[in-house]
Amino acid sequence: MRQKIVAGNWKMNKTLEEANILASEIKGMVTDEVKGNVKVILCTPFPYLVAIKNLLGNDPRISVGAQNCSEHESGAYTGEVSAGMIKSIGIPYVILGHSERRQYFGEEGKLLAKKVDIVLKHGLVPIFCCGEPLEVRERNEHETLVKKQVEESLFHLDAAALQKTVIAYEPVWAIGTGKTASAQQAQDMHAVIRKHLASKYGQSVADSISILYGGSVNAANAKELFACADVDGGLVGGASLKSREFAEIIKAV
Ligand code: PGA
Repeated sequence: MRQKIVAGNWKMNKTLEEANILASEIKGMVTDEVKGNVKVILCTPFPYLVAIKNLLGNDPRISVGAQNCSEHESGAYTGEVSAGMIKSIGIPYVILGHSERRQYFGEEGKLLAKKVDIVLKHGLVPIFCCGEPLEVRERNEHETLVKKQVEESLFHLDAAALQKTVIAYEPVWAIGTGKTASAQQAQDMHAVIRKHLASKYGQSVADSISILYGGSVNAANAKELFACADVDGGLVGGASLKSREFAEIIKAV
């Protein structure tokens, strides 16, 4: 059975005080309701990782993730944060290739492949994001693009490494827009991604990979999205900043 995951991507939001409040509210609301096979991950800004990890304590149901890391091991890269540093503070997950990193920071295939490698090397779990902009979907080239994104950054991995990776499909036109993909659109793309993984790694490896949907997931649409056969949970932005709504999303998985 695939791991179900609901990850909150806080992006560049909240002061430390607000972050502590949000995390303790989520901890209080969700832990008793989180089903056995569900993992909740709070992907906070770098400065809050340690504080939120300590606040959550040692609960296997809820944990913390970073939103990015450097492709370099260490050295003169002012302002960057390495996978080794993230590992050293006990944070198990790192989002990579989010569309905002692709769009505003020019991150793409080969660079993201390096980031995936360094994250895996340090024993962390990459949450690798892929997804098409609106114009690509309108040209009906979304499947081709997303398959290419997956290929460029993940297909160099061996099966064992791939199985340590989580994939998040996030259509760019649905991120922060309130315009979510329909359950059918999400399911169709998740099935395309899984089939593509199966073509290289075989069906049983492909069947073991958690593929999350992201893009305007909220308390009202989560249940329908998560009910899709190939949707194994969500990567949630805006709605993860509201404890009550996020708790509803977690219950929906
Ligand atoms: P959203 O963001 O839920 O606010 O659309 C999702 C994401 O960017 O991961």
